[in-house]
Amino acid sequence: MARFLHSSPTTVLAVIILAKVMMGTFLCPSAEAARAFFVFGDSLVDNGNNNYLVTTARADSPPYGIDYPTGQPTGRFSNGFNVPDFISQELGSESTLPYLSPELTGQKLLVGANFASAGIGILNDTGTQFINIIGMYTQLQYFEEYQKRVSALVGAERTQQLVNQALVLITVGGNDFVNNYFLVPYSARSRQFTIPEYAKYLISEYRKLLERLYELGARRVLVTGTGPLGCVPAELALRGRNGQCAPELQQAASLFNPQLTQMLQGLNQEYGSPVFIAANTDLMHGDFISDPQAYGFVTSKVACCGQGPYNGIGLCTTASDLCTNRDQYAFWDPFHPSQKANKLIVQSIMKGSAEYMYPMNLSTILALDSHLV
Ligand SMILES: *[C@@H]1O[C@H](CO)[C@@H](O)[C@H](O)[C@H]1NC(C)=O
Ligand SMILES: *[C@@H]1O[C@H](CO)[C@@H](O)[C@H](O)[C@H]1NC(C)=O
Repeated sequence: MARFLHSSPTTVLAVIILAKVMMGTFLCPSAEAARAFFVFGDSLVDNGNNNYLVTTARADSPPYGIDYPTGQPTGRFSNGFNVPDFISQELGSESTLPYLSPELTGQKLLVGANFASAGIGILNDTGTQFINIIGMYTQLQYFEEYQKRVSALVGAERTQQLVNQALVLITVGGNDFVNNYFLVPYSARSRQFTIPEYAKYLISEYRKLLERLYELGARRVLVTGTGPLGCVPAELALRGRNGQCAPELQQAASLFNPQLTQMLQGLNQEYGSPVFIAANTDLMHGDFISDPQAYGFVTSKVACCGQGPYNGIGLCTTASDLCTNRDQYAFWDPFHPSQKANKLIVQSIMKGSAEYMYPMNLSTILALDSHLV
């Protein structure tokens, strides 16, 4: 060791780096692999779980996936990649597999898993019209089951480490408005709660889910808010007046999102660590909506795939109107952003200022946590 004293600083550095690499190889065979990534939530982040379910909430037929590398539908509610795919790319890993995929075995398990299911919400009674979907409590139960499977593969200690060091994304809440409170006039929830009361109730139920996620070992969790719910093509067609965003849904989003950020701050204080990171997707989408041209879109009002006003009515199918250049549309179908919009959203998640990412953006997180992997 004394030899180091006579070596040049560069040699010392090289030796230290080499030692680290070797230790990595001995202690942890997958040291070169990126950190694991887990995804929970709804159709904005589902990458195919619903393909394995008997449900009406599915994206497994054309033209979904038209711009995916295979050109085939995958179950993603996008013309190509979705937000989790672009985050995986930032982590330097392959996309996570849907938890229900039969291919999710062996070493693939170490990449992480996607538990999301289109149609679900924070509340158990959201999305029940889709018949058979994976509610949030079941997603968390699957996460527990996943950890047992990984334990059998690499042992309990390494499993816990993998989970503690993982990045987690959760996107849920929009359906609690769109597919529950506002689904039908005089819905059960709208008779029970005013919009402000309902937003508050959702936040208190969401908090329980996040506490459970923490108990299950998650330590770095990106939590997206809802987008501007009243501005999606479906709502412009259904409730908007002359292309104006639907005010009651906009009110809902503007009540829910700031309270979500506040709730996350409360949890972080309780845990004494910035575990939960608020991603202001309302603002990210709002940027496209207020100035689509600045982001290379011709419109943020009309969906690329759909029918009727704003292409906002019904489902996106082979019988729908389909735009030719998908990158010019902020919305792929009546509810979901295009691949291009998803890419821009992840750029904001990576580099956004505190207004977009609170208390920090993903590039800061990756730098901060880089000693872990
Ligand atoms: C939702 O379902 C889970 C598990 O099925 C249950 O533990 C929880 O209490 C339910 N939430 C409400 C508000 O009923
Ligand atoms: C990302 O976050 C870091 C730290 O909070 C900040 O210094 C940096 O400016 C952010 N990136 C951008 C583009 O704002």
